Amino acid sequence: MRIVLGVSGGIAAYKAVEVCRRLVDAGHQVTPVLTDAARRFVGEATFSALASDPVPEGLWQRWEGGIAHTRLGQRADLVVIAPATADVLARYAAGMADDLLSATLLVTRAPVVVCPAMHTEMWEHPAVAENLATLRRRGVHVVPPESGKLAGGDEGAGRMAEPATIVATALALSARRHDLAGTHVVVSAGGTREAIDPVRVITNRSSGKQGHAIAEAAAARGARVTLVTSSALEPPAGVEVVHVESAADMHAAIAAAAPGADVVVMAAAVADFRPKAPVAQKLHGLPELVLEPTPDILAGLAEARRPGQVLVGFAAETQDVVDRARRKLERKGVDLVVVNDVSAPGVGFDHDTNEVTILGADGSVVVVPLTSKRQVADVILDQVVARLRSGATDARDARDSKRDTKED
Ligand code: CTP
Repeated sequence: MRIVLGVSGGIAAYKAVEVCRRLVDAGHQVTPVLTDAARRFVGEATFSALASDPVPEGLWQRWEGGIAHTRLGQRADLVVIAPATADVLARYAAGMADDLLSATLLVTRAPVVVCPAMHTEMWEHPAVAENLATLRRRGVHVVPPESGKLAGGDEGAGRMAEPATIVATALALSARRHDLAGTHVVVSAGGTREAIDPVRVITNRSSGKQGHAIAEAAAARGARVTLVTSSALEPPAGVEVVHVESAADMHAAIAAAAPGADVVVMAAAVADFRPKAPVAQKLHGLPELVLEPTPDILAGLAEARRPGQVLVGFAAETQDVVDRARRKLERKGVDLVVVNDVSAPGVGFDHDTNEVTILGADGSVVVVPLTSKRQVADVILDQVVARLRSGATDARDARDSKRDTKED
C-alpha cells in the first residue's frame, strides 16, 4: 500500500519516526511529507533513511512524472498525519492548500487518519473541537490524543497516541476499504411519522444520524447501498435514497429492497403503534386516539431471510440495557443487535456521538466506548463483514461436503 505520512511541527514529531518505521516494516511504501515546522523538530535525513521514498522538498517539485502536490495525493492508498497540530487541523478543515501536506490532503480520495497532538489548552479550545468535528463529518478518522507529559514540562490531555496504536488503527482502516465490495447493503434510518390527521403526527426523537453514518460507511467500504430514510438530513453521497414517512412506507420500501440484499441494517426507530384511523380533515377539540400496532419489519425480514443474509437490529433502552437487548435479539431472530443507553450523556438521539454494545446471536459482545457515529458505524460493519465471511465459509463448506459425498 502507498502511504503518505504527514508530519507537522510538534514535539511528537519524534514519535512519527517510529510510526514511519512500523509502517515500512509492515511492508508498505511510505512517503513522508514534512511541514516547515516539522523540519525544526526532526531532520529530513532521518525520515529519508527510514522511509521507502526520500522526503519531497515541497509544493513545486516534480514527483513520479508529475507534480508532487497532486501526484502524492492521487496515488496514496492511505494518508496518516502524525502529529496533527492545531494549525494543520485548522488548515485542513478550511481547505487550504499552500504547502505540500495541505495540498495532498485536498487532492487525495484515500482514507485519512489524523493524530492530534498539542497542549491541553489548545486541545480543549472550541476552535480545535469544531475543526475536528468538521473533519470527522467529512469521514476523516481521528486517533485521539492521550494524557501525559507534553512539551515544556507540562502534563495533561493532548499527547499524541502511541505509534503502535496509530499504526494498528491506520492499517485496520485500510483493510476495511473494499471489504463490502460486491455486496448490497440496505439501511433504514430516522423515526417514522404516523399521521393523526393532515396536521399532526406521532413520532419519536430519532434523528437518523446513526443510520446515515452506517450508509456512508458501507458505501465507503465498497457496498451498493440503499438508504431508506425518514430523516431530513442530507443523505451521504453515492447511495440510493428512498425517502419515507410512515412505518407503512418504510415497510413497503424495505420489502422491495431487502430480498436481494446481503445485509439489512434496521437503524430506524420505527413507530411501534399508530393511529388506527387517521382522518382526512384536521381534528378540532380533544380527540380520543385509538392506536394499533405496526407490523414488525425486522421480525418479518428474519422470517423471510435467505441463507447468508445478515440482519442487524437496533435497540434504544434506558434500563437493563444489555439484558433487554439480548432478549430482543432472540425474539427478533437477527444476527446482531446494536444497543445504546439513550439516557446516558452524548448517546443516541440527535447526538453526533454514540456509545453502543453490539450483541451477536453467537454470544459475542463488543463494547464501543463514546465516539463519533461514523466510527460506531465502522465497528458495526466490522461485525457484519465477519458474519458475511463466516456465512460464505458455511455455504462453501456445505457445497464442499455435498461434493465430497457425491465423490464418495
Ligand atoms: N423495528 C421494526 N419494525 C417495527 C418496530 C421496530 O423493524 N415496527 C425494528 C427497529 O428498526 C429496530 C428494532 O426493531 O431495529 C428495535 O425495535 P423496538 O421498537 O425497540 O423493539 P420492540 O420489539 O418494540 O421492543 P420494545 O418492547 O423495547 O419496544
